[in-house]
Amino acid sequence: MNISIKTPEEIEKIRIASQLAAEVLVLLREHVRAGVTTGELNEIAHKHITEVQGGTPATLGYHGFPASICTSLNHQVCHGIPADKTLRDGDILNIDVTVIKDGWHGDTSAMYTVGKPSVRAQRLIDVTYEAMMKGIETVRPDATLGDIGHAIQTHAEASGFSVVREYCGHGIGRNFHEDPQVVHYGKPGEGVRLKEGMVFTIEPMINAGKKEIKLLGDGWTVVTKDHSLSAQWEHTVAVTSDGVDILTQPPA
Ligand code: MF3
Ligand code: CO
Ligand code: CO
Repeated sequence: MNISIKTPEEIEKIRIASQLAAEVLVLLREHVRAGVTTGELNEIAHKHITEVQGGTPATLGYHGFPASICTSLNHQVCHGIPADKTLRDGDILNIDVTVIKDGWHGDTSAMYTVGKPSVRAQRLIDVTYEAMMKGIETVRPDATLGDIGHAIQTHAEASGFSVVREYCGHGIGRNFHEDPQVVHYGKPGEGVRLKEGMVFTIEPMINAGKKEIKLLGDGWTVVTKDHSLSAQWEHTVAVTSDGVDILTQPPA
């Protein structure tokens, strides 16, 4: 494992990319409506990143991924490919945006609802957000990756939901995915010890049903095996001298 420590100047570069990614999520909020397609959302994001922000969408061409954002609908867990599929009332959608600016990456995702979601779907979305934030709140020098995973897993499972094991958060910087792997389950005190200057994502995928997943034939889209709903939120964070700095937090 080779976890790079970023200088304050490097963290400011990551913050710039992170704020651009967060801005795309805010911009898309008004466009997520019944009748719109995920392909149209991809177009809007692509244009904004390349023409307004002067950035590069990191997913486009990444290991062959064909789009500028990931759109994961209902029982899709992650890495959904935008397409001409129309959103319908009651759908829940994750949009994941990663912007490269000046050679540095910022990575964030959020949940959106179309019209009125079921009570259970809204609860899954809320619990997943709370789980991510509980994980983030453990971050400080000398805490461990196990502390983060434990906080997330405990909250998700206490709510009757399950944590996806196969995909995790990751170090980020000049590279999209760097060490360490930030898993969303674990035991307090276990795993890598955090140090000031580490920068990584926390991005729990939480299923309403069982934790098992499968990969669709397109080679990208991950879905729940039992077809239950899945939710995800993601922030890019930096370890500070006494806590955590959420680099992808949009301005209030
Ligand atoms: N943004 C995703 C993450 O949070 C990765 C997407 S990679 C892609 O790590 F190739 F699927 F786009
Ligand atoms: Co990520
Ligand atoms: Co992401």
